[in-house]
Amino acid sequence: PLPEKVKIVEVGPRDGLQNEKTLVPAEVKIRLIDMLSEAGLPVVEATSFVSPKWVPQMADQEEVMRGIHRKNGVNYPVLTPNLKGYRAAVNAGAKEVAIFGAASELFSKKNINCSVEESLQRFEEVMTAAKQDGIPVRGYVSCVLGCPYEGKVSAAKVAEVAKRLYSMGCYEISLGDTIGVGTPGGMIEMLEAVKKEVPVQALAVHCHDTYGQALANILVALQNGVSVVDSSVSGLGGCPYAQGASGNVATEDVVYMLHGLGIHTGVDLHKLMDAGSYICRSLNRRTSSKVAQAACKL
Ligand code: HMG
Ligand code: MG
Repeated sequence: PLPEKVKIVEVGPRDGLQNEKTLVPAEVKIRLIDMLSEAGLPVVEATSFVSPKWVPQMADQEEVMRGIHRKNGVNYPVLTPNLKGYRAAVNAGAKEVAIFGAASELFSKKNINCSVEESLQRFEEVMTAAKQDGIPVRGYVSCVLGCPYEGKVSAAKVAEVAKRLYSMGCYEISLGDTIGVGTPGGMIEMLEAVKKEVPVQALAVHCHDTYGQALANILVALQNGVSVVDSSVSGLGGCPYAQGASGNVATEDVVYMLHGLGIHTGVDLHKLMDAGSYICRSLNRRTSSKVAQAACKL
C-alpha cells in the first residue's frame, strides 16, 4: 500500500547550491526559496551554518535567512554541525535545524572532520540547546547505501546511527544515499533494519541520482511505509565531500511520479517548474529534471 500523502522536503537551496561551482548571489537564493514556498512545498531547507572555509557557497547564510519571506505553515530548516552553527542559526532567525551524521567513519571525517562518535557528542550539545529553545531538530544519516571512501555500508550500522539520532530527540531521520549508488533491493534491506529501531512515520529518504536509481528507490521506500521524501528542484547539486556524486533526485520528477500515483503533495508542478527554470537560468545550467526537459510536451 502506498501513502495517501507525501511530505516533500525541498533541499535544493542547500544541498543543491552548496555544490554548484557558480557562486549564487544571496538575492537569487532568496527569490528561489520564495518561489519554492509559493509552489506549495511544505519544507524548504534554506542554507547551512557550516564553516565558510569548508563550504564557501553557504557563506551568505545570515543574509539568506533574513531575506526570505516566510510563508505561513512552511518550515525552513538549516544544517548545523555543532553548537557554534546552531547558535548562529538561531541568531539569524532559524526556527528549525538539522544535524547531519553518517553511517561511515571515513565520510564523517571528510565531511565534518570528526568520527561518528564525536559527531554524535556534538549533536547532543546541539540537541540540548534546541530542546531548551523549543527548536525541532531533524537528523540526517549519510552513506546509507554506500560510501565514496568505504564502499559498502552495513544496514546494521545505518540502523544504529539512525537510532542514536532518534533517541536523542530528532523528530525525523532522513536516510541519505549520498552518492546515489543504491538500488531498490538494498533500499528495502536497509529500511527493514532501520524500521526495527525508528518508527517508519519518522523516516525520510534522501536520494541522490548519480546512477539514475533515485525514483525506483523512492518508490520502494513508499511501498515500505516511508512518506517523507527529500528532493532538489532541477536536481541541483551534490555533496562537496562526495566527489562525482550528482544532485538529488529532481523535485519535479518526484512530484510527477507521486501525482501520477494519486498521492497528494500540495505542490503545484507548474510553479515548481518556474522555480526550476529560474535557478537554471541564474546558474546558466541545464536542468537535470526529466520532467522539466519534457515540459514542452506536457
Ligand atoms: P573543523 O575545522 O574541524 O572545526 O570543522 P573546528 O571546530 O576545529 O573550527 C575550525 C574553524 O571553523 C574555527 O574558525 C571555527 O570557528 C570555525 P577559525 O578559528 O579557524 O577562524 N567553525 C565554524 N564556522 C562557521 N560555522 C560553524 C563552525 N564551526 C567551526 N558551524 C566543521 C568542523 C563541521 C565546522 C567543518 O567540517 C564544516 O563546516 N564542514 C562542512 C560540512 C558540510 O557542510 N557538508 C555538506 C553538507 S552534508 C551533505 O551534503 C549530506 C546530506 O545532504 C545528506 C546526504 O546526502 O547524505 C545532508
Ligand atoms: Mg544530500
